[in-house]
Amino acid sequence: MASLAGRLLGLASLASAFVSRDGTGRLPAMGWNSWNEYECNISEGVFITVARQLVDLGLKDLGYEYVNIDDCWSDKELRRDATTGELIPDAEKFPRGIVKVAEEVHSLGLKLGIYSDAGTDTCGGYAGSLGYEELDAATFSKWGIDSEGQDLKYDNCNVPPEWADEYEYIPEEPANNAPPGYDWGTSNTAKRYRVMHDALQRQNRTIQYSLCAWGHAHVERWGNSTGHSWRMWGDIFPAWKGKEKWSWGLMPIVNQASLLWNYTDFGSHNDWDMLEVGNGDLTIEENRSHFALWCALKSALIVGTPLDTLALRKPILDILSNKELIDFNQDPVYGASAMPYKWGNDRPANTSDRDHPAAFWVGTSVKGIHVFLLNTRDTAVNMRAVFAEIPPLKSGGKGYLVHDMWTGEDLGIFRKYFELEVKAHDTAALTITKADGKHPNPRWSPK
Ligand code: GAL
Repeated sequence: MASLAGRLLGLASLASAFVSRDGTGRLPAMGWNSWNEYECNISEGVFITVARQLVDLGLKDLGYEYVNIDDCWSDKELRRDATTGELIPDAEKFPRGIVKVAEEVHSLGLKLGIYSDAGTDTCGGYAGSLGYEELDAATFSKWGIDSEGQDLKYDNCNVPPEWADEYEYIPEEPANNAPPGYDWGTSNTAKRYRVMHDALQRQNRTIQYSLCAWGHAHVERWGNSTGHSWRMWGDIFPAWKGKEKWSWGLMPIVNQASLLWNYTDFGSHNDWDMLEVGNGDLTIEENRSHFALWCALKSALIVGTPLDTLALRKPILDILSNKELIDFNQDPVYGASAMPYKWGNDRPANTSDRDHPAAFWVGTSVKGIHVFLLNTRDTAVNMRAVFAEIPPLKSGGKGYLVHDMWTGEDLGIFRKYFELEVKAHDTAALTITKADGKHPNPRWSPK
């Protein structure tokens, strides 16, 4: 448990975290990325429209600042310039080059993100950066034009045999053949990601570095000295549970987060993948759970739904615009993720269940203690936040003021517990303070 003064020192207490001097990466990144909805169907127009919509829909003012280009932006055939070796943008998708997109994005006060891969080819089969790290870091930096920040998402496909890891750890199939005590920070995966880290560090600009290593090689154990965030699982898919090919529904991801939430802090964030809010046929309740939990986990908030139709999809826009949840995710004083305080669903703590992950979560912010109650069931259930079970509230008091983060309303003062009906697949999000509105336990943190 860290003291408030310790937390306020912030950067100083994070000796190994990769926090850039200007504060880039201290908090979870917020923005938009093309992959979840557009996959390879991208063009200059998509990103320029998104940038304008981020402003017009009020999302920029809420903190969504990155406009991130994902896979398939370069020329698949030509790959690299024969003379300079630089990556060549696809001239049909980006007729004026990436530079022009950066200019448009920056002119709106937003930041540009780009994508590459720590292998020979990206997952879509475009040129990767392995062996070209210095040149590509310099190229991305050059394309950024001015002093605005940038983001690099660095994927993990097409690793040549000479870079294969000695041992294998894949979180979805957790057979781990490494000897006990093996330091995964010495793995080839860690080395491949570190080469790009070093190249980025040598640029005269700050680049937010998002490792897309899918939880392989226990990236959570070395990610915080290498990047600002690291993907923890396979690709997300807009479904509640289960798996389709290599993509996963929300519940298996939350299950993994139930077990590994504690690797997150200022400057070092587990990345539970980009948001699918507004995509596929997720129900409103499922969309609410997705957003509330990603905020609670302090995962990056990277929207993946088309923005040109978002004004017409008001319930989705409202979810993505929930300021109280965003404030929790971006809290300036408390860096830790929320943690499960009870598993629920009649299960002992710290057990894995890909359909029914931990249901009772607690976190803290400058505003108070926050409780998130996830209903994994297919029917509405009554869920009870019993104060004596919640670590920072255990000591009791004269009663707590319970506030609904979804509606912005105070729900009243309760002495022993607060109970409400949570719809199927919905998540209640509560702020709990003393009856006078003061923080009930400012010294408590999940870590
Ligand atoms: C995957 C990655 C996705 C997306 C895709 C592009 O490896 O996890 O988020 O970037 O590659 O091909």
